[in-house]
Amino acid sequence: MGYPSVTNLAVPLPTRYNGDVLQHSLEDFAMTHPVRIVGISGSLRRDSFNTGLLHAARELLPAATTLDLADISAIPLYNQDVQLEQGFPAPVQRLRDEIAAADALLIATPEYNYSVPGVLKNALDWVSRPGPQQELPFNRKPLAIMGASPSLFGTVRAQLHLRQIAVYLNLLPINKPEVLVMRAGDKFRAGRLVDEPTRALVADLVQALVNWTRELRGE
Ligand SMILES: Cc1cc2nc3c(=O)[nH]c(=O)nc-3n(C[C@H](O)[C@H](O)[C@H](O)COP(=O)(O)O)c2cc1C
Repeated sequence: MGYPSVTNLAVPLPTRYNGDVLQHSLEDFAMTHPVRIVGISGSLRRDSFNTGLLHAARELLPAATTLDLADISAIPLYNQDVQLEQGFPAPVQRLRDEIAAADALLIATPEYNYSVPGVLKNALDWVSRPGPQQELPFNRKPLAIMGASPSLFGTVRAQLHLRQIAVYLNLLPINKPEVLVMRAGDKFRAGRLVDEPTRALVADLVQALVNWTRELRGE
């Protein structure tokens, strides 16, 4: 799992190597095989805790990893008539292209009434539809989920709903670690995640997503 081991390394190793040589081989391999992640926040709120989680993830990325945040604020309400008669609206097409080009997805979801916010579900619904060439941007895409809430439940019910949605989209979510940020108001300062245990958990989640993505790519 993760960086290639001695037995599954795709490039030949020097016949005589020491730990340093092996370490450099692994780092070289990772640098030439980056993992590009797209992050989606389920909140449009300016000072969103969940968008803050994504900003923290971006500060805590492993080597050879990028995280670009998608913007779902301009996505119109799903209407199949629009899709069939006019194609995907420009903000939808942009999101579809970003997801198709990414190696993995990281979603930070608030919990609204025990589920995911409508804006997130609406964006997922648009991207879930097959394109003109039957392209399905979510198909077999590695996914990690996290969420923050001022309550004591830390978005657990929303995250479980999102996992249910992921089944139909054929996303491939990782299970652990669970990032359920409760009492979010105590963990952010001026929009920045400052709670160190939570920052460590976010870093672990991103590392797990990168490892899972590399494993699925056979690296
Ligand atoms: C319509 C609505 C429904 C909500 N329902 C829940 C809920 O079911 N569980 C919960 O823990 N918080 C709930 N909240 C509070 C949100 O967790 C809180 O607003 C949070 O800050 C939203 O995430 P954000 O900071 O990323 O915008 C709800 C908020 C709104 C606006």
